[in-house]
Amino acid sequence: MLDRFADRWALVTGASSGIGATFAEQLAARGMHLVLVARRREPMQELAARLHTQHGTRSEILTSDLAAPHQAAALHEAVSRRGIEIELLLNNAGFAVVGDAADVDVDRVGELVRLNIGALTDLTYRFLQPMLQRGHGAIVNVASVAAFQPVAYMAAYAASKSYVLHFSEGLWAETRDRGVTVMALCPGVTRTSFFDVAGVPGWLKKHRSQDPEKVVRNALTSLEKRRQYAVSGWGNWILSLLVRLATRRRVVIESMKYFRPQPKSEEPDAEATVQPPQPIESDRQNRADDAVA
Ligand SMILES: NC(=O)c1ccc[n+]([C@@H]2O[C@H](COP(=O)([O-])OP(=O)(O)OC[C@H]3O[C@@H](n4cnc5c(N)ncnc54)[C@H](OP(=O)(O)O)[C@@H]3O)[C@@H](O)[C@H]2O)c1
Repeated sequence: MLDRFADRWALVTGASSGIGATFAEQLAARGMHLVLVARRREPMQELAARLHTQHGTRSEILTSDLAAPHQAAALHEAVSRRGIEIELLLNNAGFAVVGDAADVDVDRVGELVRLNIGALTDLTYRFLQPMLQRGHGAIVNVASVAAFQPVAYMAAYAASKSYVLHFSEGLWAETRDRGVTVMALCPGVTRTSFFDVAGVPGWLKKHRSQDPEKVVRNALTSLEKRRQYAVSGWGNWILSLLVRLATRRRVVIESMKYFRPQPKSEEPDAEATVQPPQPIESDRQNRADDAVA
């Protein structure tokens, strides 16, 4: 499938950094032209120039705040006006808000919902419909391993990614016999600016993580196989299955350890090694608890 993409166009949201910029690099290496979308123009200009030099591919840069009302529709319109047919849509732009419910920034959570769910849904349908008419095309929606479980202190984010996973899987089933693939990508902890943006700078350094290059390579291999979802890395894949064996109560209570805010005096030593997330064990007692909850 990916061979057919050469000389066609991919649209990548969140292309100014991290996983989105890495998708742009690996797709350009396969000969795809790119529509790069994010709020910051400069990093996308640098990326576009580099890709042109290395691979001879063309890029269109469209700055957009996709969390703002009607921006997804305006983006679709801007692409259509340029006469560009999108063969591969990468709904990657997204962010998390980490914090205690008592003082979380509610406006920022609203932005999160509009970007991670609203814009992604809007863009998916707007670009999917012409793909179905043509009988070819693909969409990758970036979810997360957090999509498989509720996560305390990043509750809205984890829930938004569950939406992305289920939305994409539903569309995968609807469209798979019509020449189109819709796939959810579920990365685990990945080395990008994600955790800084989420409000937990330094968190990444204390946890096992993957390079975005590896995440994107795995994603493209899974897309080639027309999978409904892809979890990057064996460890993450096993965790995504283990949460099904434990009770929901156990899973969410275990999740509290990842992002529980700590009073200043109790902040851990920056040099201390924090254990990576442990598999959540099945718990018979909690199954009983759930049964009466
Ligand atoms: N890193 C991880 O550990 C991890 C794990 C699982 C899933 N993910 C998912 O992977 C995706 C990419 O994140 P990343 O790790 O690459 O983080 P990142 O480096 O912070 O990239 C986020 C991208 O989204 C763009 N973006 C943010 N708000 C936007 C808005 N309102 N309108 C348009 N673009 C916006 C940013 O560009 P501008 O700031 O220039 O707008 C940036 O290009 C996200 O959906 C994230 O949820 C990441």
